[in-house]
Amino acid sequence: MKTLLVLDSSPRRDAVSRQLTNHFIEKISAKYPDVRIIHRDIGASPLAHVDDELINALRKEPETLTPRQQAARQASDQMIEEMNEADAIVVGAPMHNFTVSGALRTWIDHVARPGKTFGYDPETGPKGLIEDKPVFVLSTRGGDYGDGAPDNPHPADFQSGYLRHIFGFIGLKNVRIIAANGMDMGPEPRAEGLAEANNKIDAAVDALAA
Ligand SMILES: Cc1cc2nc3c(=O)[nH]c(=O)nc-3n(C[C@H](O)[C@H](O)[C@H](O)COP(=O)(O)O)c2cc1C
Repeated sequence: MKTLLVLDSSPRRDAVSRQLTNHFIEKISAKYPDVRIIHRDIGASPLAHVDDELINALRKEPETLTPRQQAARQASDQMIEEMNEADAIVVGAPMHNFTVSGALRTWIDHVARPGKTFGYDPETGPKGLIEDKPVFVLSTRGGDYGDGAPDNPHPADFQSGYLRHIFGFIGLKNVRIIAANGMDMGPEPRAEGLAEANNKIDAAVDALAA
Protein backbone atom coordinates (compact mmCIF):
# COMPACT_ATOMS: atom_id res chain seq x y z
CA MET A 1 0.00 0.00 0.00
CA LYS A 2 1.78 3.12 -1.22
CA THR A 3 -1.00 5.67 -1.70
CA LEU A 4 -4.44 6.06 -0.13
CA LEU A 5 -7.01 8.55 -1.40
CA VAL A 6 -9.35 9.77 1.36
CA LEU A 7 -12.49 11.71 0.47
CA ASP A 8 -14.48 13.48 3.18
CA SER A 9 -17.93 14.51 2.01
CA SER A 10 -19.77 15.71 5.11
CA PRO A 11 -20.62 19.40 5.35
CA ARG A 12 -20.23 19.09 9.15
CA ARG A 13 -16.86 20.03 10.63
CA ASP A 14 -17.34 17.65 13.59
CA ALA A 15 -18.78 14.90 11.38
CA VAL A 16 -18.90 11.30 12.54
CA SER A 17 -17.67 10.24 9.09
CA ARG A 18 -14.54 12.35 9.67
CA GLN A 19 -13.91 10.40 12.90
CA LEU A 20 -14.17 7.21 10.84
CA THR A 21 -11.89 8.39 8.00
CA ASN A 22 -9.39 9.55 10.65
CA HIS A 23 -9.55 6.15 12.32
CA PHE A 24 -8.92 4.51 8.94
CA ILE A 25 -5.91 6.80 8.32
CA GLU A 26 -4.46 6.06 11.79
CA LYS A 27 -4.91 2.34 11.36
CA ILE A 28 -3.44 2.19 7.87
CA SER A 29 -0.52 4.47 8.81
CA ALA A 30 0.34 2.08 11.66
CA LYS A 31 0.36 -0.85 9.24
CA TYR A 32 2.17 0.98 6.39
CA PRO A 33 4.24 3.80 7.98
CA ASP A 34 5.32 5.14 4.56
CA VAL A 35 1.82 5.33 3.10
CA ARG A 36 1.06 8.60 1.29
CA ILE A 37 -2.37 10.00 2.09
CA ILE A 38 -4.10 12.16 -0.53
CA HIS A 39 -6.84 13.90 1.44
CA ARG A 40 -9.59 15.65 -0.51
CA ASP A 41 -12.20 17.35 1.63
CA ILE A 42 -15.13 17.89 -0.73
CA GLY A 43 -17.39 18.54 2.26
CA ALA A 44 -15.38 21.52 3.53
CA SER A 45 -14.55 22.77 0.00
CA PRO A 46 -17.47 21.65 -2.17
CA LEU A 47 -17.24 21.73 -5.94
CA ALA A 48 -19.62 23.83 -8.04
CA HIS A 49 -22.76 22.13 -9.33
CA VAL A 50 -22.45 21.35 -13.01
CA ASP A 51 -24.38 24.03 -14.88
CA ASP A 52 -24.52 24.57 -18.64
CA GLU A 53 -21.02 26.06 -18.81
CA LEU A 54 -19.37 23.30 -16.76
CA ILE A 55 -21.24 20.38 -18.32
CA ASN A 56 -20.01 21.49 -21.73
CA ALA A 57 -16.43 21.63 -20.44
CA LEU A 58 -16.54 18.24 -18.72
CA ARG A 59 -18.56 16.20 -21.22
CA LYS A 60 -17.33 17.65 -24.53
CA GLU A 61 -14.03 18.72 -26.06
CA PRO A 62 -14.70 22.41 -26.79
CA GLU A 63 -12.05 24.18 -28.84
CA THR A 64 -12.12 27.25 -26.65
CA LEU A 65 -12.67 27.25 -22.91
CA THR A 66 -13.72 30.05 -20.59
CA PRO A 67 -11.44 30.52 -17.56
CA ARG A 68 -14.12 28.83 -15.40
CA GLN A 69 -14.32 25.86 -17.78
CA GLN A 70 -10.54 25.61 -17.83
CA ALA A 71 -10.39 25.57 -14.03
CA ALA A 72 -13.13 22.91 -13.82
CA ARG A 73 -11.35 20.65 -16.33
CA GLN A 74 -8.06 21.04 -14.51
CA ALA A 75 -9.66 20.22 -11.16
CA SER A 76 -11.47 17.24 -12.67
CA ASP A 77 -8.25 15.96 -14.30
CA GLN A 78 -6.50 16.26 -10.93
CA MET A 79 -9.25 14.43 -9.03
CA ILE A 80 -9.20 11.63 -11.62
CA GLU A 81 -5.41 11.46 -11.35
CA GLU A 82 -5.81 11.09 -7.57
CA MET A 83 -7.99 8.03 -8.15
CA ASN A 84 -5.46 6.62 -10.63
CA GLU A 85 -2.53 7.16 -8.25
CA ALA A 86 -4.25 5.56 -5.26
CA ASP A 87 -3.93 1.88 -4.34
CA ALA A 88 -7.17 2.14 -2.36
CA ILE A 89 -9.87 4.76 -1.81
CA VAL A 90 -11.72 5.64 1.39
CA VAL A 91 -14.92 7.67 1.24
CA GLY A 92 -16.48 9.29 4.32
CA ALA A 93 -20.15 9.29 3.28
CA PRO A 94 -22.94 10.66 5.49
CA MET A 95 -26.39 9.47 4.42
CA HIS A 96 -28.42 12.48 3.32
CA ASN A 97 -32.04 11.95 2.35
CA PHE A 98 -31.42 8.23 1.91
CA THR A 99 -28.49 8.68 -0.45
CA VAL A 100 -25.14 10.51 -0.68
CA SER A 101 -24.49 14.11 0.40
CA GLY A 102 -24.73 16.83 -2.24
CA ALA A 103 -20.95 17.28 -2.03
CA LEU A 104 -20.26 13.64 -2.90
CA ARG A 105 -22.88 13.68 -5.67
CA THR A 106 -21.21 16.76 -7.18
CA TRP A 107 -17.73 15.20 -6.97
CA ILE A 108 -19.16 12.24 -8.91
CA ASP A 109 -20.49 14.63 -11.59
CA HIS A 110 -16.97 16.07 -11.92
CA VAL A 111 -15.13 12.74 -12.19
CA ALA A 112 -17.56 10.52 -14.16
CA ARG A 113 -16.31 11.74 -17.54
CA PRO A 114 -16.73 10.09 -20.94
CA GLY A 115 -13.37 9.16 -22.42
CA LYS A 116 -11.59 9.74 -19.06
CA THR A 117 -13.24 7.43 -16.54
CA PHE A 118 -15.75 5.54 -18.67
CA GLY A 119 -16.10 4.57 -22.29
CA TYR A 120 -18.86 3.05 -24.35
CA ASP A 121 -18.60 0.22 -26.83
CA PRO A 122 -21.66 -0.21 -29.10
CA GLU A 123 -21.26 -3.99 -28.84
CA THR A 124 -20.26 -4.54 -25.23
CA GLY A 125 -21.76 -1.39 -23.63
CA PRO A 126 -20.20 0.82 -20.95
CA LYS A 127 -16.64 0.19 -19.79
CA GLY A 128 -14.98 1.67 -16.70
CA LEU A 129 -11.55 3.16 -17.33
CA ILE A 130 -10.17 3.39 -13.77
CA GLU A 131 -8.07 0.40 -12.77
CA ASP A 132 -9.90 -1.66 -10.16
CA LYS A 133 -8.81 -1.23 -6.53
CA PRO A 134 -10.54 -1.43 -3.16
CA VAL A 135 -13.01 1.33 -2.26
CA PHE A 136 -14.09 1.55 1.38
CA VAL A 137 -17.26 3.59 1.95
CA LEU A 138 -17.59 4.67 5.58
CA SER A 139 -21.31 5.40 5.68
CA THR A 140 -22.78 7.29 8.65
CA ARG A 141 -26.54 7.17 9.09
CA GLY A 142 -28.92 8.70 11.61
CA GLY A 143 -31.10 5.56 11.50
CA ASP A 144 -30.45 1.87 10.96
CA TYR A 145 -30.33 0.49 7.42
CA GLY A 146 -28.31 -2.68 7.96
CA ASP A 147 -24.87 -3.31 6.53
CA GLY A 148 -25.41 -2.21 2.91
CA ALA A 149 -24.62 -5.70 1.60
CA PRO A 150 -25.94 -6.35 -1.93
CA ASP A 151 -27.64 -9.62 -0.95
CA ASN A 152 -29.65 -7.99 1.84
CA PRO A 153 -30.53 -4.43 0.76
CA HIS A 154 -32.62 -2.17 2.99
CA PRO A 155 -35.50 -0.67 0.93
CA ALA A 156 -34.65 2.90 2.01
CA ASP A 157 -30.87 2.63 1.57
CA PHE A 158 -30.39 4.32 -1.79
CA GLN A 159 -26.78 5.10 -0.92
CA SER A 160 -25.05 1.69 -0.87
CA GLY A 161 -26.39 0.36 -4.18
CA TYR A 162 -25.88 3.72 -5.85
CA LEU A 163 -22.24 3.99 -4.78
CA ARG A 164 -21.57 0.37 -5.75
CA HIS A 165 -23.06 1.08 -9.16
CA ILE A 166 -21.39 4.40 -9.94
CA PHE A 167 -17.93 3.29 -8.73
CA GLY A 168 -18.36 0.06 -10.71
CA PHE A 169 -19.37 2.10 -13.75
CA ILE A 170 -15.98 3.86 -13.78
CA GLY A 171 -14.12 0.58 -13.17
CA LEU A 172 -14.04 0.29 -9.38
CA LYS A 173 -15.90 -2.98 -8.81
CA ASN A 174 -14.44 -3.74 -5.40
CA VAL A 175 -16.65 -1.55 -3.15
CA ARG A 176 -16.99 -2.38 0.52
CA ILE A 177 -19.64 -0.56 2.59
CA ILE A 178 -18.79 -0.10 6.28
CA ALA A 179 -21.94 1.27 7.90
CA ALA A 180 -22.19 3.24 11.14
CA ASN A 181 -25.90 2.92 11.88
CA GLY A 182 -27.94 4.70 14.55
CA MET A 183 -25.88 7.90 14.79
CA ASP A 184 -28.98 9.94 15.71
CA MET A 185 -30.81 7.25 17.74
CA GLY A 186 -29.42 8.14 21.18
CA PRO A 187 -26.18 7.48 23.06
CA GLU A 188 -26.32 3.69 23.22
CA PRO A 189 -27.18 2.86 19.60
CA ARG A 190 -24.69 5.54 18.53
CA ALA A 191 -21.87 4.05 20.63
CA GLU A 192 -22.72 0.56 19.36
CA GLY A 193 -22.85 1.72 15.73
CA LEU A 194 -19.51 3.50 16.06
CA ALA A 195 -17.79 0.56 17.77
CA GLU A 196 -19.05 -1.82 15.09
CA ALA A 197 -17.85 0.45 12.28
CA ASN A 198 -14.43 0.96 13.91
CA ASN A 199 -14.04 -2.82 14.38
CA LYS A 200 -14.91 -3.35 10.71
CA ILE A 201 -12.33 -0.73 9.68
CA ASP A 202 -9.69 -2.51 11.80
CA ALA A 203 -10.54 -5.86 10.20
CA ALA A 204 -10.56 -4.38 6.68
CA VAL A 205 -7.11 -2.83 7.13
CA ASP A 206 -5.75 -6.02 8.75
CA ALA A 207 -6.99 -7.97 5.72
CA LEU A 208 -5.23 -5.71 3.18
CA ALA A 209 -2.27 -7.32 1.45
CA ALA A 210 1.12 -5.55 1.46
C1 LIG B 1 -29.48 17.00 5.18
C2 LIG B 1 -29.47 15.74 6.03
C3 LIG B 1 -30.20 14.64 5.59
C4 LIG B 1 -30.19 13.47 6.35
N1 LIG B 1 -30.88 12.39 5.87
C5 LIG B 1 -30.85 11.23 6.57
C6 LIG B 1 -31.51 10.07 6.09
O1 LIG B 1 -32.10 10.05 5.00
N2 LIG B 1 -31.46 8.94 6.84
C7 LIG B 1 -30.79 8.89 8.02
O2 LIG B 1 -30.77 7.85 8.66
N3 LIG B 1 -30.13 9.98 8.50
C8 LIG B 1 -30.15 11.13 7.80
N4 LIG B 1 -29.48 12.23 8.28
C9 LIG B 1 -28.68 12.09 9.51
C10 LIG B 1 -27.22 11.80 9.18
O3 LIG B 1 -27.08 10.71 8.29
C11 LIG B 1 -26.44 11.48 10.44
O4 LIG B 1 -26.52 12.58 11.33
C12 LIG B 1 -25.00 11.15 10.17
O5 LIG B 1 -24.33 10.85 11.35
C13 LIG B 1 -24.31 12.29 9.50
O6 LIG B 1 -22.96 11.96 9.24
P1 LIG B 1 -21.78 13.01 9.48
O7 LIG B 1 -21.75 13.27 10.96
O8 LIG B 1 -20.61 12.28 8.98
O9 LIG B 1 -22.12 14.23 8.69
C14 LIG B 1 -29.47 13.41 7.56
C15 LIG B 1 -28.75 14.54 7.98
C16 LIG B 1 -28.75 15.68 7.22
C17 LIG B 1 -27.93 16.86 7.69
